[in-house]
Amino acid sequence: MTFAIPSRGEPFRYPMIIPKSRRLSLLLLNARICVLGLVPFISVLDPTLTLGQMRTGEPSRPVRERILIDDDWRFQKGDPTGATGLLYDVRPPLKGEVKDKAPDAAAEEAEKAGPSVQPILKPWILPTGNRFIKDSAHRFVRPTGNPGSDVSYVQPNYDDGAWQHVTLPHDWAIAGPFTTNAGGGMGRLPSGGVGWYRKKLIIRTSDTGKCFFLDVDGAMSYAAVWINGKLAGGWPYGYASWRIDLTPFIIPDKVNQLAIRIDNPPESSRWYPGGGLYRNVWLTKTQPVHVAHWGTYLTTPEVSAASASVRLEVRLDNDSRTQANVRVVSDIYELDAKGRKSRAPVASINPANQSLEAKSNDTVTGSVTIPHPKLWGPPPHQQPNLYVAVTRVWQAGSLIDTYETQFGIRSLRFDPNSGFYVNGEHVYLKGANMHHDLGALGSAFNQRAAQRQLETLQEMGCNAIRMSHNPPAPELLDLADRLGFLVMDEIFDVWYRVKTPYDFHLIFADWHEQDLRAFIERDRNRPSVFLWSVGNEVGEQFTGTQGAAVAKELVEIAHEEDPSRPVTASMNFAKPDMPFSTPLDVISLNYQGAGVRDAPSQYQPYHDKYPQKMILSSESAAAVSSRGVYLFPVTKDVRTPVRDGIGGDPKNHQVSSYDLYAADFGSSPDRVFASQEKNPYSAGEFIWSGWDYIGEPTPYYSSRSSYFGAIDLAGFKKDRFYLYQANWRPNLPMAHILPHWTWPDRIGQVTPVHVYTSGDEAELFLNGKSLGRKKKSSFEYRLRWDDVVYEPGELRVIAYKNGKRWATDVMKTAGQPERLLLSPDSSQIVDDGIMTPPFRARLIT
Ligand code: GAL
Repeated sequence: MTFAIPSRGEPFRYPMIIPKSRRLSLLLLNARICVLGLVPFISVLDPTLTLGQMRTGEPSRPVRERILIDDDWRFQKGDPTGATGLLYDVRPPLKGEVKDKAPDAAAEEAEKAGPSVQPILKPWILPTGNRFIKDSAHRFVRPTGNPGSDVSYVQPNYDDGAWQHVTLPHDWAIAGPFTTNAGGGMGRLPSGGVGWYRKKLIIRTSDTGKCFFLDVDGAMSYAAVWINGKLAGGWPYGYASWRIDLTPFIIPDKVNQLAIRIDNPPESSRWYPGGGLYRNVWLTKTQPVHVAHWGTYLTTPEVSAASASVRLEVRLDNDSRTQANVRVVSDIYELDAKGRKSRAPVASINPANQSLEAKSNDTVTGSVTIPHPKLWGPPPHQQPNLYVAVTRVWQAGSLIDTYETQFGIRSLRFDPNSGFYVNGEHVYLKGANMHHDLGALGSAFNQRAAQRQLETLQEMGCNAIRMSHNPPAPELLDLADRLGFLVMDEIFDVWYRVKTPYDFHLIFADWHEQDLRAFIERDRNRPSVFLWSVGNEVGEQFTGTQGAAVAKELVEIAHEEDPSRPVTASMNFAKPDMPFSTPLDVISLNYQGAGVRDAPSQYQPYHDKYPQKMILSSESAAAVSSRGVYLFPVTKDVRTPVRDGIGGDPKNHQVSSYDLYAADFGSSPDRVFASQEKNPYSAGEFIWSGWDYIGEPTPYYSSRSSYFGAIDLAGFKKDRFYLYQANWRPNLPMAHILPHWTWPDRIGQVTPVHVYTSGDEAELFLNGKSLGRKKKSSFEYRLRWDDVVYEPGELRVIAYKNGKRWATDVMKTAGQPERLLLSPDSSQIVDDGIMTPPFRARLIT
């Protein structure tokens, strides 16, 4: 299979409202510029003026405005007393006590809600997704009426002065308090319940006649949006990005009142979801004729060092009541490492004329060849070079829209016998699974925190991430594009069959098409995205042809939206002779590659049954550990299921960090490395998990966060980080000793010492005395001195590679604590409002 790709559909550098705090300094700066007579004065008091426009000198009132509206929201938990009829849909009653389910338990039949006996919002919410329903006969018609019109919180003149003042992204649950009654799976934080957000939008008279869109990158969950007291729409899936057309409800020259109700069900997730408007929210203003939402699709069908063909589809919406003749021109610019466009375009697509009927849409397609393209590819051998296509739409000689599509030029190849290739280079997938939360910041998206997660993974040698098990924030994909990560972009953890009582299975029937099409249209221009995953360990694996039919439907939708990439779904149960795998382009195995428990590896059976499909491990290891905790005795095995007293401390809820203990279905990293090496056609692995995350605290469900990460919740590296680094960065001279060497109670006791090194041999010294030189055998990935008897002092290791000295590490017995040392994670920050350190995109060698 050869799949060629690229790009993305929104501006590279998001226009930002200049924070009030910074307007004064800009005013002074502008005043200085004015005195010097260099450029005309730019109004810093206009809140829609963007930093991007200031840099590029574009007009202060662009034809399209995309305004971040994260400031000045009011927030309140709960509905007003007596309010009714605000549920999206009736929910089936929770049956008895909900237990934390084993992650690999068989799915149950989805519980079906009975018919509604009270008014519900669903009929007014469903039409929001119409744009993503292919068959017009299946689209929803908005009923008459205006549910919620009698609720005080939606009224324009309601006094919300006593509500909490919040800035988005906002996760209402992360502030706690921790609870003991909510399940450990969801993190013991109060993410469930109803929350209301209100914000005033001031629309200028000069905006009369424009279209207004509310663009929400993510709201957890079941969002319903009122504007000026009118229910405008909503979107249930908490991880989706979505748009509401506010145009019919906006009153120019007035304060327009937004009110958003979020209703996050309890028992709706296997991990911490967070709650509320936890990603960015934007107001987009356009002319009535404009490029549609996520309206471009850019591919590079032919890629070589000499040239690349670029194909660009532009979907245009004519929301006006009159026919329009437009001219569409797209220029392609190179972007530098800071995201700045080249002065002149490197190529231009021939202008196209298009006639658009009133209230219709149509697509314009064009192609161009770029000579000697700068290719996008993952470090260390390749660079994540980016381009941007700037599409301009003209009508009667006037510019009416500009739209930017960022993309990268690269070719992908999925080889069933040798794995994955980018631009012809074999790239072994050294991947990590990542949930969406950011530790102590909860699920509220924060660019710097996400960047730090990726940079730390990159330092470990990781070149790929799997978005388990839902669409990420768009900015996370910006980072992946810029840092050169490969992304397995995943949308669902459940289909029709339940995992937790109020999860997505309740709405899968109504929403899977809209969610899947919207997700792919949002992300399909990203060079980082190399593979779509339509599901993770879904219950349909168990249902034979019925389940395979659902898989087939989803794969077909994905192919329609993006024929350039393959589609998969991750399997922890399905076997090659079951129908489930047949519709999938790529075989993604969770744990089955190394063999679950004592079951044999499924790599070879799959390879034999599907010789034309590439195989990868979408989840591997599921090793567990608490940073800095070492429990004795240490298993002599290479992998042991964690149990109380065997790697697990039930009193303190800690797990030993010798990296040999795993969930029952999982393995140690070592055992996975061996299975990968023995099956070299496997394209690679995605470890479970890169970072610790909130919720799912296997094996101690009374805890609040997971033990699976190679990096802990705060971003500190566990020992496992170095085990992966040793294997994933073979050219980096490194050695790492564990455990720590401060054991006053263990004098004279056996205290095994393990060394992770990218070398192949090492000699260990305790207080200067050699404990022997050891060499890794085949399928061995660590060096073990299991009989070391503890005495305080100094452990030192000297690692060798090919017989030459390669790296050292030292571990000393600590004295009394003396001082606390804090060191900043970056010594420089950029003045961009989000305190980003200078981008270290090309960090890895
Ligand atoms: C897998 C599942 C993940 C996570 C992991 C560790 O089976 O896909 O979401 O639950 O196990 O428990």
